Amino acid sequence: MRNITGTVAEGEDFFGRDKEQRQMWSKLQDNANLALLAPRRVGKTSLLKRLKATANHHGYRAVYLDVGDAADEWAFVERLSQAVLAEAGNELILQKLEGNPLLQYFKNIKKIGGFGFSVEKEQQQQARWDKLGQSLLAALDATDGRWLVQIDELPVFLLKLLQPESDAARQRAREFLYWLRRLRGDYTQIQWIVAGSIGLDAVAERYRLSDAVNDLTIFHLQAYDEPIADHFLQALAQSYPLALPLEVRAYIIDRVGWPIPYHLQLFYAGLRDHCDGRTSATREDVDAVFENLLQPAHSSYFDTWRQRLQDELGRPDSDYALGLLNAVCLDPAGVSRDTLGLWLGAKLNDPEAKDYKLRYLLNVLDGDGYLIEDKGRYRFRSFLLREYWRRRVAA
Ligand SMILES: Nc1ncnc2c1ncn2[C@@H]1O[C@H](COP(=O)(O)OP(=O)(O)OP(=O)(O)O)[C@@H](O)[C@H]1O
Ligand SMILES: [Mg+2]
Repeated sequence: MRNITGTVAEGEDFFGRDKEQRQMWSKLQDNANLALLAPRRVGKTSLLKRLKATANHHGYRAVYLDVGDAADEWAFVERLSQAVLAEAGNELILQKLEGNPLLQYFKNIKKIGGFGFSVEKEQQQQARWDKLGQSLLAALDATDGRWLVQIDELPVFLLKLLQPESDAARQRAREFLYWLRRLRGDYTQIQWIVAGSIGLDAVAERYRLSDAVNDLTIFHLQAYDEPIADHFLQALAQSYPLALPLEVRAYIIDRVGWPIPYHLQLFYAGLRDHCDGRTSATREDVDAVFENLLQPAHSSYFDTWRQRLQDELGRPDSDYALGLLNAVCLDPAGVSRDTLGLWLGAKLNDPEAKDYKLRYLLNVLDGDGYLIEDKGRYRFRSFLLREYWRRRVAA
């Protein structure tokens, strides 16, 4: 197993997630469509790729696409088409589309790798992205077997449609989401997993679009639990000359607080640099790596946690959330709900509005992996993130 820090973990490099895979397949077998949600870098894409690679054991074939950088609905459908044609086979899909007035578009995809916006501009005017997408899915549905369509980074695409904010933008996003929802309902051989690091549920609520996604079963991907985190560190250490004794592994898990695979990978990579030439790491090495991970060179990862509040909540809620987090980061043991209520009460005069807002924000911050409630107190899940927040955001 390789110590990878950033790219998707596939094949031999993919570790654990057995329970999650079982749970997700079981929900899929019950005909659910899923929304796989977790903060940045918890391992969503790796898990999607794993589900795809093992889909045939469960009677499915899977299509994966990432729509995070798709510019508009056309680009979305183009990406979907490329993924479907590549996975199901050009010939088969084109054959199923025989007689469809839109066949030529899909032939273009095959020929030049896109709908050919520049080449076929005129034709594009005559067709509509929604009809193209529907024809494509109908063709896929008509092939043998069951399909799983995985759409990664859907909330990022959705936010793009919603910005800049206006009634027209909201209407456009609504139409897109309803189109997607109809696709989920119309084709019995096709099921869906949408995934994203920005809470689809929170975005939908904020823009009053919840009805367009409430058929999805939400699956929050969490950190490894402790025994799995320990096995993972053990497996990493067996692949390199730097050993991690039991107590050092326990100490790493202790210090990260929130053992997502990425943080464990970062720690081990940091230890390999730091312990250059030695064959075993110590607790002191772990402390040194912790400090190092908080240096500005690594801050781009943590910065996304701050940016995300703005993307997901918008103002003024993002400012309130920021204030709550600034208060919480000061104490490693966290802060009581009452104290947080007092802080928010100073911003919002109406006590009922304050109670509602507090409940809403704590819910989002918990669901999104920032905070965890423990014996009536809220604290940061990740000690790395807490320390970053304390030094760079709240300071
Ligand atoms: N199952 C796993 N086994 C080993 N390492 C993993 C696993 N899942 C995630 N990782 C580690 O976490 C990193 C991020 O994983 P991945 O890209 O799958 O997360 P993500 O949730 O899709 O992130 P993003 O929100 O940035 O797209 C990987 O580069 C790897 O270091
Ligand atoms: Mg990803």
